[in-house]
Amino acid sequence: MDGFHDIHCHLIPGVDDGSESIEESLAALRREYEEGVCRVICTPHIAPGETDAAACQERQFGLLKKAVSESNLAGRIELNMGNEIYGATSAVPSLKEGRIHTLAGGHYILVEFAPPESFRHIEETFRSLLNSGYLPIAAHIERYECLRKPDALARLEELGVCFQVNTATVTGSALARETRWVRGLLREERIHFLGTDSHGMHYRPPRMREAAAWVEKHCGAEYAEKLLRKNPERVLRDEII
Ligand SMILES: [Fe+2]
Repeated sequence: MDGFHDIHCHLIPGVDDGSESIEESLAALRREYEEGVCRVICTPHIAPGETDAAACQERQFGLLKKAVSESNLAGRIELNMGNEIYGATSAVPSLKEGRIHTLAGGHYILVEFAPPESFRHIEETFRSLLNSGYLPIAAHIERYECLRKPDALARLEELGVCFQVNTATVTGSALARETRWVRGLLREERIHFLGTDSHGMHYRPPRMREAAAWVEKHCGAEYAEKLLRKNPERVLRDEII
């Protein structure tokens, strides 16, 4: 299987703690391509109070697209714009004003929290985002201790929240708590997306094939296809999953 999608990465140069230069971004996108990825949604960090970040991110995204079009990656990897939003109910006005990017311009948004965040805050934030018409995807859910309590994920599922896990967690040590939890959820087909969460070549270079192979082997080809192709395509077409 090939033609994967990466919906979570920090490969726009110089806008967050991800890739630091155009050269690093191109090297990381080349690695994405070698890892079987054909479409990427770039998701630089953003917090609701940051008023000038979106314009700078768009400018740098334009430069990156131009550099890709002039390289041997032209026509091989498609880039889309998004954000990884630091979750708070106050994100809604910024989203409406276009100061925070949805994923590929549709209704889906990628949302993260501080790892020790309370379930109450996470649930409230997602409820507010959904009530405002957005389709939230919880980024790297393996990071949140509160989501491992009985019924926590089920409550978010009931609301309509989608879940993303990082490929590095899927392929981590079978003894690691996060990896065991995530693999259990994958076996139950409760995860909607895999993402590399790559921060460029200096931190978590993109890796997709090994996680894709794990899912295909342990959860079946049909679910792997859904995770790596069908669900991300729905995000890009702005269709409900
Ligand atoms: Fe991230």
